Amino acid sequence: MKHATSTLLAATALALTATTAVANENDAAMLKLASTSGCLTCHSVESGKPGPNGMAPIGPAWQDVAKQYRGKPGAQDFLTRVVLEGSSPYSSHWKGKVSGLSMPPNAVAIKETDARTLVSWILSLGQ
Ligand code: HEC
Repeated sequence: MKHATSTLLAATALALTATTAVANENDAAMLKLASTSGCLTCHSVESGKPGPNGMAPIGPAWQDVAKQYRGKPGAQDFLTRVVLEGSSPYSSHWKGKVSGLSMPPNAVAIKETDARTLVSWILSLGQ
């Protein structure tokens, strides 16, 4: 019996390690995609990081985006559109919280399927 328990524990530990490894791999892949698509010039992942010259960051930290939109119906579709088409400086969604007035359209820099994948990763941050 003792033997069976420790085998079970070992198997559980292995499963946990595997899950963590997959999550990290996904993080690395997502960070690479964000970086090659130019997102990280304006965004940080972690909240609370200052922007250039200690000003407010140019765009909202993605952990803050997750907090703001997670669980809202249609958030993934909405944010994928904003990423591809950009936002309007006349109706900033993050007015006063960031130093950038609006996000330029990113459709030139990222494919729609990649934008959707990245947005779903952003929405999962900080869980
Ligand atoms: C030139 C700077 C810049 C780049 C490059 C940029 N963003 Fe943004 N992003 C912003 C700004 C500024 C905002 C805030 C817009 C607002 O207040 O409406 C923003 C907002 C967002 C939001 C929240 C949108 C909302 O309506 O609340 C998401 C998600 C986002 N960006 C993802 C991305 C992704 C993914 C990329 C790369 C493909 C990217 N951004 C590239 C500046 C940028």
